[in-house]
Amino acid sequence: TRVLVLNGPNLGRLGVREPEVYGSATFADLSAHVREWGEALGLEVDVRQTDDESEIVGWLHEAVDTRCAVVINPAAFTHYSYALRDAAAQLGTAGLPLVEVHISNPAAREQFRHTSVVSAVATGTIAGFGLDSYRLALAALVPAPTSLQP
Ligand code: DQA
Repeated sequence: TRVLVLNGPNLGRLGVREPEVYGSATFADLSAHVREWGEALGLEVDVRQTDDESEIVGWLHEAVDTRCAVVINPAAFTHYSYALRDAAAQLGTAGLPLVEVHISNPAAREQFRHTSVVSAVATGTIAGFGLDSYRLALAALVPAPTSLQP
């Protein structure tokens, strides 16, 4: 299974940016871990980051057109980008999974982070486990035994 692991604005600044919130690992460290975890789960992962809304929207279109699963940390776009939400909604329509991830737990932070415009069109959300949120998100793409499926 091919998976696009998409990261929104300022995530390229991991390690430098608010380490008390996001930890000291860099985006390069995160990418290396994600590739390793993906490989262990038998997934073919492609990790990307952009600060540009139109670029991340384009990557979501690409996921639909090439029929691939998505793990996405929309970063600040989570809270206000209807363009990203509308692009994310196309995965559900196409029957493709999309897992929303966050390093921190936005529900435990400032009020403006309590709203996600993406959650309602995601298959599910994993937040608050540090970089491990990405490992859990990848694991969520590997089918569970049928007895555990909803
Ligand atoms: C984040 C949480 C967002 O509120 C914030 O804007 C980010 C990162 C997280 O991974 O915890 O940039 O998505």
